[in-house]
Amino acid sequence: MPSDVKELLATGAALTDAALERLLPGPQTVPHSIHRAMRHSVFAGGKRLRPILCIEAARMVAGTGQVPEGAADLGAALEMLHTYSLIHDDLPALDNDDLRRGQPTCHVVFGEAIAILAGDALQTLAFQTIAALASTPETTVAILRDISTAVSTGIGGASVLAPGMIGGQVVDIESEGKAPTAELVESIHRSKTGALITTSIVSGGIYGAGSAGAHADTISRLRIFGEKAGLAFQIVDDVLDMTQDSAQLGKTAGKDAASIKATWPAVFGIDQSIRDADQLIADAFEALAPFGEAATPLKTLAQYLTKRKN
Ligand code: IPE
Ligand code: IPE
Ligand code: MG
Ligand code: MG
Ligand code: MG
Repeated sequence: MPSDVKELLATGAALTDAALERLLPGPQTVPHSIHRAMRHSVFAGGKRLRPILCIEAARMVAGTGQVPEGAADLGAALEMLHTYSLIHDDLPALDNDDLRRGQPTCHVVFGEAIAILAGDALQTLAFQTIAALASTPETTVAILRDISTAVSTGIGGASVLAPGMIGGQVVDIESEGKAPTAELVESIHRSKTGALITTSIVSGGIYGAGSAGAHADTISRLRIFGEKAGLAFQIVDDVLDMTQDSAQLGKTAGKDAASIKATWPAVFGIDQSIRDADQLIADAFEALAPFGEAATPLKTLAQYLTKRKN
């Protein structure tokens, strides 16, 4: 891994972890079980990609070269939402996984009831955190609107699934065991994974613009970048599930084939999947062309999404 991406990941993760440590109730807070369960999953060792993308989008749009004050809290809120989605994704009723981030899953350690409630609590704490951001009410509402829509069931679609994380998870589960079409798998991936990655970048941009308000063209470019990178991210997740072992992934390898999941390689094969992810990243780069050098961190991170090994 080149040192510039290592540096970006390490500094972004440190900022995020410090914010999470401050924002999550401590293990001695009652009721102990749920706070320990939330902390178990949050601090199990995630890559922190969504907060890091958020922080770098905020830095790019702010245009000062510095990470805007408070951007790490927004990143931490996105990581809470992501971790909630992982806790629920791993439940017996969904993917039924017992390994996550190299640790036993939340329900394995704390039981199903507490794991469900820990996911609920992380989602609630995320929105509390966003509501407390040091931004103007207009900026805070714009961020809340974008993030809550991204996590939702996919508002606005009558027959085609509109991107929303929970909606994507529903279709993912309901598609198990069926031969997937290209349209179906693209819509699942854009929803269950792409939507949260996209809003991480868009909300970071809104936050970075501050009280000046974000320019519509900036937001639309960040959104295109996020949608392409987010789809590439889930394609690579599917490929890694087939090509890496559980120790490397920190989660159970080969789960998608075992559960007959609608994945990109199931439709296109592994080689084409890798080519598609690379092409999506090249397309994502184009959306950021007008930002010049200032877009280098976001582009470096997007490239890493396809080259990662876990
Ligand atoms: C895994 O996401 C779940 C998907 C949406 C594919 P990550 O690969 O970002 O997982 P962590 O946060 O590093 O554990
Ligand atoms: C997870 O997709 C998407 C969400 C958690 C919303 P996967 O089920 O492919 O994620 P992993 O492979 O278990 O991390
Ligand atoms: Mg799943
Ligand atoms: Mg899963
Ligand atoms: Mg997966």
